[in-house]
Amino acid sequence: MIDQHLAQFALQIGVENVLIGDEAKPYLVDWTKRYSGEAICVLKPANVLEVSAILKYCNANSIPVIPQGGNTGLVHGSVPGETKSGSLPVVLSMLRFNELNTVNRLDRSVVVGAGVTIKDLATHVSKFGFTYGVDLAARDSATIGGTVATDAGGIRVVHYGTTKAQVLGVEAVLADGTIIDSLGSTAKDGAGYDFSSWLIGSEGTLAVITRVRVRVKNPLPNAHTYFVGLNKFSEASELIAKCFLEQKRVLAAEAIDEASFELVCKFLDLSKPISDYPVILLLETDSEVDLSAFTFVKSQSAKESLEFWARRERLGDAVGSLGIIHKADVGIPPENLDEFIAEFHIEVNALSAVKQTLVYGHIAECNLHLEIIGPAANDVSAESVTYKLVAAHGGTVASEHGVGRAKCEFLSLVRSDDYLQTIKLLKKTLDPKSILNPGAVIALD
Ligand code: FAD
Ligand code: LAC
Ligand code: ZN
Repeated sequence: MIDQHLAQFALQIGVENVLIGDEAKPYLVDWTKRYSGEAICVLKPANVLEVSAILKYCNANSIPVIPQGGNTGLVHGSVPGETKSGSLPVVLSMLRFNELNTVNRLDRSVVVGAGVTIKDLATHVSKFGFTYGVDLAARDSATIGGTVATDAGGIRVVHYGTTKAQVLGVEAVLADGTIIDSLGSTAKDGAGYDFSSWLIGSEGTLAVITRVRVRVKNPLPNAHTYFVGLNKFSEASELIAKCFLEQKRVLAAEAIDEASFELVCKFLDLSKPISDYPVILLLETDSEVDLSAFTFVKSQSAKESLEFWARRERLGDAVGSLGIIHKADVGIPPENLDEFIAEFHIEVNALSAVKQTLVYGHIAECNLHLEIIGPAANDVSAESVTYKLVAAHGGTVASEHGVGRAKCEFLSLVRSDDYLQTIKLLKKTLDPKSILNPGAVIALD
């Protein structure tokens, strides 16, 4: 049967775009190395009609399909896992969707292929005098399709918003091969339901995104870049609120706990510009901030700013050098930040398998990245403790990385039964055989 499927896919997209064996391997394990799975093959279609034909065939034959962009997702959404049916899936790599169109300077939008990377999109729109609002350390590999599918956030959310704020329309293919085009011909198009908003955060479970119309933004103003020493995370949020009150534009605000800061400075062999503070804030603003009440350093050159940023952007690599990491991406209401973080360290470190816990994150949105070092890859006891604590503090278990398979069982901690039943209804309507990324986001009965 598998040979029959392979022969059919080869007819649809050419044998050179059907990967098996060693060629398929890099697509079957994720960036964290914690998650991997098996697949019939990896398919690399080049246009929407090929995606439609593949999905029609997979739907008719009940073959699960895992859409994949840059494979930088962190929640086991981009590579196969175990499916209830036990059927082997195909991975649908969208990397050949690399179309870049002319930027419309009047409505400030551009239509691009789902496989275009964030870096390539930013480079492209810069030629027209614009920037793209979403930026993240995974920019070289993360794609437009993947970032829409996860509603990615990153380091400029405080200024430009998350991916949701950039998307104007999509072209996508449903599980049965139906092509839906809501790209529109202008940036303002309110004809009917906003189909694109159904797909933002859908993580490959409702449709395969093939093209996206995104907003482009004016470039960032010249930035003033600081490291500020603080005693607790809530002081960072208060400082940001003070900047807003003084009509300053905050371009980035990244808080890092002392242990993480120490680790990354050592990892990069860079100096530790601020010592003896539990929290270090990387703050970027469009104008000078009066920080006389704080211990701080200000970057004096573009080169130095890059080194400031390296200490934030390479944190994932620095922590990753310690082994398999359990990564939790959560959001906590500002009034509960410090209490939550204190309880997180105590409760999670009380588990015998845990060696260390670290906290950093996009603090303007109270989005914390919690890193747990020690437990075996398949031991989720630390996640279980963490997400219960998040729910008890009124937070969210998925702030910007999505839910994937890793957090599917924890979604009910923060979403009501009515919410879960309604999204199941949507899933069953659009994908009745549940072939699109089964097991991710929502567990079907
Ligand atoms: P993948 O990892 O390939 O896929 C992610 C999900 O989207 C999967 O569920 C997949 O099925 C689905 N998908 C992918 N393409 C499509 C498509 N065309 N149609 C339908 N579904 C699709 N995330 C942040 O939000 N903020 C950060 O600051 C951030 N920093 C990161 C830094 C590093 C070093 C790394 C490794 C990751 C980081 N991430 C961050 C996580 C990751 O980059 C984002 O989740 C990103 O959106 C994934 O894009 P991707 O193209 O790699 O998608
Ligand atoms: C970051 C990723 C992990 O902010 O979201 O570094
Ligand atoms: Zn992040």
